[in-house]
Amino acid sequence: MQETLHSIADRCRGLHRQGTVARYIPELAKAPADLFALSAADVSGERWSAGRFEHPFTMQSISKVVTLLLALTELGEEEVFRHVGRNPSSDPFNSIMRLEMADPHRPQNPLINAGAIAVTSLLPFPGAEERSRAILSFARRLTGNPALAVDDGTFRSERETGDRNRSLAYFLKSLGNLEGDPCEVLEAYFRQCSILVTTEDLAMLGATLASGGVCPATGERVVAPRACRIALALMVTCGLYDGSGEFAVRVGLPAKSGVAGGIVAVVPERMGIAVCGPALDGRGNSVSGMRALELLSEERSLRVF
Ligand code: DON
Repeated sequence: MQETLHSIADRCRGLHRQGTVARYIPELAKAPADLFALSAADVSGERWSAGRFEHPFTMQSISKVVTLLLALTELGEEEVFRHVGRNPSSDPFNSIMRLEMADPHRPQNPLINAGAIAVTSLLPFPGAEERSRAILSFARRLTGNPALAVDDGTFRSERETGDRNRSLAYFLKSLGNLEGDPCEVLEAYFRQCSILVTTEDLAMLGATLASGGVCPATGERVVAPRACRIALALMVTCGLYDGSGEFAVRVGLPAKSGVAGGIVAVVPERMGIAVCGPALDGRGNSVSGMRALELLSEERSLRVF
């Protein structure tokens, strides 16, 4: 495994030239475009890494899996899916259009921005601070890393420039589909997106999902098997937004991407894999990350389809 990861890192490093680093959140534009990191962790807790795997980056949309799992744990499936659908969207991750056009007026799934903001609003914790603390603490348990923290610079940058997310939150509120004060919900949403991780952390999060909810690093059961199954099904169909179908064909694994360049993928019952390459394609998914996962899936026969 270690040799395969090194060889894939060598082949994928240069692919950043085919993408661009996200600029709509100014703090993300500072990321080194040529960064490449790749980690894997199996369900027994063994880990392998290649590239600059010690380099931290923010979770961004990968945090939507964390809040979905937390909402399923705290509220149950029925309540969560009363507010948000379970079907893929062929629109960009931050699209607002379908919210008005679809009937009922609810986000199509919890992994697009509108759906994730709605899910964060459902979390039963009073105020932005408690909500953020609960999300961070849950992310620490899923990754087995008690030192995870929020990057304040990215959080402030998201808050200053998050007008599209503000629009989504207020629109959801007007539809009766957002609980509480949109400002407080957005505060928690911007913070969850700004949680700093490494590919090692995300590989372990993937391994927790692969093992049905037990974190291999700590042995703790963090989520129920049913919640993991729901998350994995939504990751297959919606995890890379309007690129999910292409990713399923190329890689054949449930996965979730983030605009800082991270992607976490899961090989059920076997392992979690995480990559980071900040240069993105037009859909907001890491170019080198997708290629690395394609190579790894092919070379180690990991695909589930
Ligand atoms: O809300 C946003 O736009 C970002 N904080 C997260 C978006 C994201 O990661 C989309 N993923 N590829």
